[in-house]
Amino acid sequence: MRSLIDFDQMTLEEWGELYDLAKDIMDNPKKYADSCKDKLVATLFYEPSTRTQFSFQAAALKLGAKVIGFSGTAGSSVSKGENLKDTIRIVAAYSDLIVMRNPSEGAAYAASLYSRVPIINAGDGGHLHPTQTLTDLTTLTALKGGAGGHTVGFCGDLKNGRTVHSLIKALVRFPGNSFVLISTPALRIPDYVKKVLEDSGASYREENSLEACIGDLDVLYMTRIQKERFESEEAYKKEAGVYILDAKKLAMAKQSLIVLHPLPKVDEITDEADEDPRCRYFDQAEFGMYIRMALLLTLLKEGKEASQPAWPRSNTDKSCGNPRCITKTEGYLPKLEDNGRCVYCDHALI
Ligand code: NCD
Repeated sequence: MRSLIDFDQMTLEEWGELYDLAKDIMDNPKKYADSCKDKLVATLFYEPSTRTQFSFQAAALKLGAKVIGFSGTAGSSVSKGENLKDTIRIVAAYSDLIVMRNPSEGAAYAASLYSRVPIINAGDGGHLHPTQTLTDLTTLTALKGGAGGHTVGFCGDLKNGRTVHSLIKALVRFPGNSFVLISTPALRIPDYVKKVLEDSGASYREENSLEACIGDLDVLYMTRIQKERFESEEAYKKEAGVYILDAKKLAMAKQSLIVLHPLPKVDEITDEADEDPRCRYFDQAEFGMYIRMALLLTLLKEGKEASQPAWPRSNTDKSCGNPRCITKTEGYLPKLEDNGRCVYCDHALI
């Protein structure tokens, strides 16, 4: 495995090895303090982030690596109009690994085509967020004994929440999971994620009401309404504040429930509910740093390609139907399809 664009690329055996490494790092942090001391990690965050960016920077520094990067494009050549391909070629020449977050869907995959060093997808628009998925799987494994056999409720912005898309795609690979998708009709999961659920044969249902199903859940994955991905303030306001987890609803839930949240949270969990010991999102964030340490250690071992990789040629004349796809703004990218879907962002081609 060179780059991590999607959790799909990892076998469950590789996942198990990564978890074991993270566990060893948690138990023996000193052992790893210098393990990447000759490495340089670049964090290119084209979109704001606190948790994910700091979590990667902390992970790299705790392994003894050095870190460079930007947060927001204002101070970088991107603001002068530099394309993604050139930025990546330059940064790959300077560093040993690139962690990237970008608002366009499929951007991390696009970057991986032009990079001599591993790319880690730290979020590509509303598409995927595989290291949050690793964080979530680590939390389930540490707190619930494994990532299978659970009834998992996802609540909130299931349309725009990339952490939800990535985690559902991962959880269908673990036996015994069933899914309750709690959202308003306007914020249901995208069709391609629904197709993943249908193809997997896992049982799932869509719900409007959190009260109606909270008692069935082993895991409740709360999410914020992704304000920045709405077309207008009015459109956002229609959806804001619909799902609030409070003490009254938690009283209807199992004692063994755990509540997760990728964070940041806004108003979807009340302060009173926040104090309930079943809310484990701060532990979740900490687990995220350890699994990212394990990931960095694993990918940094592979070293850098001696020369620029050959990038693929277009295999279709069709265009991606997703206006937020990276192919809409980076015109040089080859058009790539697999089974009628865009290889960059998974949406249907037209
Ligand atoms: C999430 C993200 O960026 O997608 N946060 C995170 O990575 N910790 C969730 C969010 O922004 O709502």
